[in-house]
Amino acid sequence: MRAVLIRGAAPYGEQPLDLLLADGSIVATGPAAGADERAADAEIVDGAGLVVLPGLVDLHTHLREPGREDAETVASGSAAAALGGYTAVFAMPNTDPTADTAGVVEQVYRLGRDVGLVDVQPIGAVTVGRKGERLAELAAMATSAAAVRVFSDDGDCVSDALLMRRALEYVKAFDGVIAQHAQEPRLTQGAQMHEGEVSARLGLTGWPAVAEEAIIARDCLLADHVGSRLHVCHLSTSGSVEVVAAAKRRGTTVTAEVTPHHLLLTDDRVVGYDPVFKVNPPLRTAGDVSALRKALADGVIDVVATDHAPHASQDKETEWDNASPGMLGLQTALSVVLQTMLLPGLLDWRGVARVMSETPARIGRLTDQGRPVATGEPANLVLIDPDAGWTVDGDSLASLSGNTPFQGMELPGRVVATYLRGRCTVSAGMLAGR
Ligand code: DOR
Ligand code: ZN
Repeated sequence: MRAVLIRGAAPYGEQPLDLLLADGSIVATGPAAGADERAADAEIVDGAGLVVLPGLVDLHTHLREPGREDAETVASGSAAAALGGYTAVFAMPNTDPTADTAGVVEQVYRLGRDVGLVDVQPIGAVTVGRKGERLAELAAMATSAAAVRVFSDDGDCVSDALLMRRALEYVKAFDGVIAQHAQEPRLTQGAQMHEGEVSARLGLTGWPAVAEEAIIARDCLLADHVGSRLHVCHLSTSGSVEVVAAAKRRGTTVTAEVTPHHLLLTDDRVVGYDPVFKVNPPLRTAGDVSALRKALADGVIDVVATDHAPHASQDKETEWDNASPGMLGLQTALSVVLQTMLLPGLLDWRGVARVMSETPARIGRLTDQGRPVATGEPANLVLIDPDAGWTVDGDSLASLSGNTPFQGMELPGRVVATYLRGRCTVSAGMLAGR
């Protein structure tokens, strides 16, 4: 593979310098990069005006393969991810069949390697078929070729306290983590949107904040009791922020994620009954949005995860009650984080790298992702033009589905190039080699 010399890009938006990529690694930086003998026949990339970050890592992606290849495949989702600046994504197991055995997680893992645009790291289901009845073969998935470390029944909550306890206990043996979709099922039966003023006005059944907060509180206590790692998926309310903050003060090993859509959008979007705004957990209030932004800035929330949830048009473009919940996220996540966190001064570029790359890699135990932009580190990188803006258009996204809630919005920041182990997956904002 040919070496790459990136000239004058700014790691973390700081001092611009040269970076030499060879044999999958960053082999030299600064004046040493151009002076290195491998620079002589390297491809030269003009990085002037660009910010360079470690390749982004998404802890929460739905790829839909196997089973719903009409909505997304490992290939189409990987393309969306690379174009969004990602070098690794964790694939949720709510596929058909469910990723609850070594066989299925290995299948997804191998599909990801074959596509080769991002590292696809499967998440294993906690319970067989995600039915919440008995534990899946967690150890078999952990010791499989996919080396699963994250387990989740996402889409559904592991609501049985005893099963949740057993799962937390079980994964300790292989340093795993349970990623919980926190939704008390009885409190959310038939729920259509956030329970509040807007749901009352529209007459839609509400999904109360307490249904999330009660499960997070219970799970933090369980994680404490058994001394295990808990990760909270798509945390969405100000009350959940308080619960996690209190648990962290006590020393609970809990981490939490927030989605880009919960950082930007509110429940009043539902008034037009456009199902593109239907998502689970639902869009919340402006007060929740500001609490989520502050918590992400303060470190109470650890990471941004997309919950990229493609849905085919027949499942999404239907009346509100019957529409599937979920939104696309991979190609818009970085721009939404720049809009909601970087531009208002809540995070700097180091902070963006922390919440979108370093910490998600650490939570998911990916050792060669989310590493510093420095000599000797793996060449998983994204080059960003911070001054370019763009208008979101669902039709031009790489996903096989078009359900972006950001349609028509102007957002800041463009992904110019992405490198996976020194190989260019995206250049000039397009998939490389196509
Ligand atoms: O909105 C959602 N969509 N929330 C989930 O938990 C699951 C996801 C999906 O798979 O579509
Ligand atoms: Zn979920």
